[in-house]
Amino acid sequence: MDVRFQRGPSGEWKANVVLAFAFKGEDIRTQAKALIDVAPWLDIAPALNDFKGEAGEIGLLYGHPKIAIPRIILCGLGGRDSYTVDTLRKSVSAAMQKCRELKLENIGIDVETLSGLPGEAARNVEEAVVAAILPMYTYERFRTTRKEPLFTPSWISLFFAGDIDSELRDAARRGESAAAGIYLTRDLVNGPANLVTPSFLEEQAGKLAARYGFTVRVLNREEIAREGMGAFESVFKGAVEDARLIAIEHCPKGRSGDKPVVFVGKGVTFDTGGISLKPSANMGDMKSDMGGAGAIFGLFEAIGQMGGQAAVDRRIIGVMPCTENMPDGQATRPGDVVKSLSGQTIEIINTDAEGRLILCDAMTWAQREYDPALMVDLATLTGACLIALGNDVAAVFATDEVLSDTIRKEGETVGDLYWPLPLWDRYFEDLKSDVADMKNVGGREGGTINAALFLKQFVDEGRRWAHLDIAGPTFRSKKSPLSPFGATGFAVRTLLQLALNGVEDVK
Ligand code: BES
Ligand code: ZN
Ligand code: ZN
Repeated sequence: MDVRFQRGPSGEWKANVVLAFAFKGEDIRTQAKALIDVAPWLDIAPALNDFKGEAGEIGLLYGHPKIAIPRIILCGLGGRDSYTVDTLRKSVSAAMQKCRELKLENIGIDVETLSGLPGEAARNVEEAVVAAILPMYTYERFRTTRKEPLFTPSWISLFFAGDIDSELRDAARRGESAAAGIYLTRDLVNGPANLVTPSFLEEQAGKLAARYGFTVRVLNREEIAREGMGAFESVFKGAVEDARLIAIEHCPKGRSGDKPVVFVGKGVTFDTGGISLKPSANMGDMKSDMGGAGAIFGLFEAIGQMGGQAAVDRRIIGVMPCTENMPDGQATRPGDVVKSLSGQTIEIINTDAEGRLILCDAMTWAQREYDPALMVDLATLTGACLIALGNDVAAVFATDEVLSDTIRKEGETVGDLYWPLPLWDRYFEDLKSDVADMKNVGGREGGTINAALFLKQFVDEGRRWAHLDIAGPTFRSKKSPLSPFGATGFAVRTLLQLALNGVEDVK
């Protein structure tokens, strides 16, 4: 679905339908003035009086079929006082589901009504575009028998009554790029593990690099082992599919001397648990265990689509340790001790706590290779995070409060929810080992914090670092307003916000 812009007097606009937003208890005629010009029949449509403007309410109004705008979908926003950008997202999503049902090809949105909503005009435009595209996602790659694929509109058009406002046009383009990134992430995370292997991800990185001018570095199984990443190696020992450490870099001209922002994403393409085998119920969902790496791919797709260099003037690197976690005669046993790249030794109590084992070596490598100004790792790391924060919210841990707050706020702006958990060293007691420097698991209590504290042992003193446990929101068994069931693309937009805006002191 493309985003287009139409300018000129509203009498000249063309679309199968125009979306109009309305608050409860306010007259639509005053809220959407341009629409009355475009569809004068609206003024006398009896259905107008039936529409109350409740949040999520949809009103479908028909004019004469021969006129340029034969339909209007009224989108209720509820009371003006309780409006947030999330209300707008849900309302656009409901309207788009209706458009899908009615098989409408061309959907118009009047920018003036969007900019008239509370909050920043550019934000409302960006969110409306994102919310129009995201609910239309489907994963059809392996369907051969469905007679008719789900209908998807061809384009949404933003109508400007006067000249096209470049700030609002850029906001719309940003939304379109972010949505394209999320589509890629969803494809990778929904993709079954026999397709989405570490080498498949290497290919994806290569394609992104070729299309948008990023640089890619890849270490294979032997190189990872030779480098001394014993923790990473312990996870791929049981796998036949070859592991990869993939690094992808966006470096705008003149920025190669800058310390980069580095994102490190867990790329476990399938997590059986290894010798500490998981129960079989829902094990298939563990194809989503590369959701951290998947979000980084989405980020780079978004940066690329935005025109890279001009849009994101900051050096950004994604580091993705990718492997399966399989049981096998060669697989790591519980009780094995391995040496990480940092030199610290780890007693592997549970081979299902594999994410931290690949991340710790990837983070050590990333710090040595790139000396990041800021390092953020993201991972579907612990089931305990679902118990603590549920399905909608990810955990954020950070070396300082400014960083944690920035991530929480940037995330909230774009609809990714985070809540902080503590990185207190007292819980490290649980991770002490009799035979090595640490164990890879503690007790069941505070499992999400234990995992974060394990990772903390591999972060250089003074390094700015945040850890995002995205186990809950990455892959969902139910649909939500912006996402069908399955992969959501969570965190792509958070990473994009961080790439665009940086964090205080990390410019
Ligand atoms: N990939 C899982 C975590 C997970 C669980 C993500 C459910 C998404 C949904 C991770 O590798 C894992 O298995 N963690 C263990 C850790 C435990 C052994 C300390 C867990 O959460 O049970
Ligand atoms: Zn696991
Ligand atoms: Zn895992």
